Amino acid sequence: MRGWLANATTVAAWPLVLLTAIGTAPSAFAQMPLPTAPPPPQDGKTLFLNQCGTCHSLDPADPPRQGPLLKGVVGRKAGSVPGFHYSAGFAKADFVWDPAHLDAWIASPQAMIPGTVMAYAQPNPETRRKIIDFLKEQQ
Ligand code: HEC
Repeated sequence: MRGWLANATTVAAWPLVLLTAIGTAPSAFAQMPLPTAPPPPQDGKTLFLNQCGTCHSLDPADPPRQGPLLKGVVGRKAGSVPGFHYSAGFAKADFVWDPAHLDAWIASPQAMIPGTVMAYAQPNPETRRKIIDFLKEQQ
């Protein structure tokens, strides 16, 4: 009988133990830092403004920047913005900017035109694609 009673007391205590555990659970969760959401993907325009906009404008009315105007760059001969002083390698750049040339250029300007003064390189193909898609629309 003693043994049974002791067991009954133990069993009767279980719900209390459970309730205590449940009671503490929410506050424990509340103290956990929320997982930070990844930043929303940036569109081509935002990427262009952030990554190229310091040195390149799309508006001919803007004061000169470090790099040439990029309005209408797709379909334009390399090194052909009047009045912009390109580095020496551009004299030999005999091609028209198309998406493939732009992709190679943004990935590694130095590899394409050695000695260029464009201090930038974008290793992410998806980022390059978005920027180039945006530039195609800037005619
Ligand atoms: C730190 C400044 C800087 C940044 C950032 C920069 N550029 Fe340039 N860019 C230049 C300079 C300077 C030149 C001229 C290079 C030379 O003469 O060697 C140039 C040249 C170019 C040209 C050749 C244009 C022509 O008329 O032939 C293209 C295309 C270009 N940049 C695209 C971009 C794009 C797209 C981005 C962003 C993904 C970018 N650049 C970021 C400075 C920059």
